[in-house]
Amino acid sequence: MDFLQAYTVRINEGLEGINLPSKPSNLYDPLRYFFTLGGKRVRPILTLLAAEKFIGTDSETDALNAALAVEIFHNFSLVHDDIMDEAPVRRGQQTVHKKWNTNIAILSGDVMLVKAYQYLNSYPAATAKKLIDVFNKTAIEVCEGQQLDMDFEKRSTVGQEEYIEMISLKTSVLLGCALQFGAIVGGADTNAQNALYGYGLNMGVGFQIQDDLLDLYGNPELVGKQVGGDIITNKNTLLMVIAKREANEEQLNTLETLLKETNNVKKIEGVLSLFKILNVEEKCRELMNLFYNKAEVHLDKVELKSDKSGLWSLTELLKSRSY
Ligand code: IPE
Ligand code: IPE
Ligand code: MG
Ligand code: MG
Ligand code: MG
Repeated sequence: MDFLQAYTVRINEGLEGINLPSKPSNLYDPLRYFFTLGGKRVRPILTLLAAEKFIGTDSETDALNAALAVEIFHNFSLVHDDIMDEAPVRRGQQTVHKKWNTNIAILSGDVMLVKAYQYLNSYPAATAKKLIDVFNKTAIEVCEGQQLDMDFEKRSTVGQEEYIEMISLKTSVLLGCALQFGAIVGGADTNAQNALYGYGLNMGVGFQIQDDLLDLYGNPELVGKQVGGDIITNKNTLLMVIAKREANEEQLNTLETLLKETNNVKKIEGVLSLFKILNVEEKCRELMNLFYNKAEVHLDKVELKSDKSGLWSLTELLKSRSY
């Protein structure tokens, strides 16, 4: 992602530059740890790219605090998500609740959330209010999506539409919010803000479907997460939704038995071979591409002062991402 290098550097410097007290170290060390673990920085890059289309490249720093707020909120959601998903590895390293403990992960995540507000509050009052209104709506939706995700673990079947609704909430709205932040800081009108938000919403659905695919089919060294984590925790990801829909009675019984399997290696192998027979991966990719295409249609319609090449390139890169 070469052309994104400059943006990534600015975001990483911003995160590293956050002045955190040294004590209590069990509260602040996890923040320092997590902020330097890397990550693709997709959301804050979206904010910076969107903003510079409205305010010109010289004023990029103006959007930096909004971009940092989005990334910090995202990091908060990951630290808490890893507790909910019992995930041992994140960005190639131990998750916060594994390295420290669950209570520490809850509390340091809470501080991240408040930090995000502080960055939004650094803008002039009128802009801050607009940002915080969008942020509040988004943050609540993310929680709704996360709850649905956990509720779905307990259900035997989930429909494709319900699944799309769930991932729109847990993932897509934040991509939309990131873009809208850029537009707000750049002084764009509501039409442009909404158009960018629509682009983010569709891209986010594609992005989460891809996340589901990478969870099972990705290279663990690149993805930096536990392979098959979604299978182990009985997530009703798009792969599972499609498999259950396509399976005949016998295959459904096999799947039900596999979901109760306690040997994770056996469980993942069994599910993988059933997915292969049912062509699950291809069907997922089709739906993923459909949403990425929808996103591009939205992007095409956005009226920006300058060209949209950065956003086009980023979308292209995301479509073929391997981590
Ligand atoms: C992971 O997000 C969580 C999802 C919503 C899919 P990313 O894939 O953007 O994770 P990082 O920030 O690059 O680690
Ligand atoms: C995460 O979805 C969504 C949020 C963190 C809000 P996942 O649970 O699929 O994300 P990963 O795979 O752990 O990154
Ligand atoms: Mg999750
Ligand atoms: Mg997770
Ligand atoms: Mg995932």
